[in-house]
Amino acid sequence: MENSTSNSSLNNKKICVIICGAPGGGKGTQSNLIIDKYNLKHISTGDMLRKEIADDTELGKNANKYISKGQLVPDDVIINMIEKKFDEMDCTHKNGIILDGFPRTVKQAEALEELYAKRGTATDILLDLQVDEEELINRLLIRGKTSGRSDDNLETIKKRLDVYNSQTKPVTDFYEKLGKYVRIHGMGTVDEIFRRISEAIDKVM
Ligand code: AP5
Ligand code: MG
Repeated sequence: MENSTSNSSLNNKKICVIICGAPGGGKGTQSNLIIDKYNLKHISTGDMLRKEIADDTELGKNANKYISKGQLVPDDVIINMIEKKFDEMDCTHKNGIILDGFPRTVKQAEALEELYAKRGTATDILLDLQVDEEELINRLLIRGKTSGRSDDNLETIKKRLDVYNSQTKPVTDFYEKLGKYVRIHGMGTVDEIFRRISEAIDKVM
């Protein structure tokens, strides 16, 4: 029989979500809706890196060399940044966490699950947004007119898509083997896609 301590930690179980998908797949857009509905803490490594660039930090200067070429920032830099974030985070008021754009390599996925295991948790679900390549490019070119992002131009978008296919897709296989993988049809209106996501999250809540 479980004692009261383990019962209370079970009751306090927080949900750990990953939202994954190609550049322009809608990770950020859908994350904003998910955090409102489920009261989750949003961690986007892309947003964190862009903040470092805007603040002109050493980390930002280094990261920008990779981002502007559509390449991934080295794993050790990203894993250290996430570990620091976890250590600083106060999640007591949240129902859990949604990671957007992380993990992006199998090495990052292994590191994440180790960091979670140390904290007595694990990923519950990986949502994989599936969007046709033509639509991805179209969305990013439209956004590029106003975003000011150094990576929203056709040449860099193509590079980001190659990097996604070669380095990030294996992350979905990693979570499929763990039984945590859910494919989400990512075409259609933002609301339609959000309804599909909500159904998937509700099943693991
Ligand atoms: P990151 O910031 O994560 O960018 P990304 O993966 O390339 O994806 P985006 O942010 O461009 O797209 P999104 O999926 O969030 O889509 P959004 O909702 O914005 O990473 C940037 C770079 O940082 C990386 O290339 C890498 O260099 C580095 N980096 C980050 N994390 C890293 C990591 N873990 N390891 C190593 N390097 C890392 O939507 C896109 C557009 O489409 C928007 O304009 C939106 O309004 C529109 N839109 C959304 N949904 C719809 C819809 N249903 N219909 C029509 N338009 C839509
Ligand atoms: Mg994004």
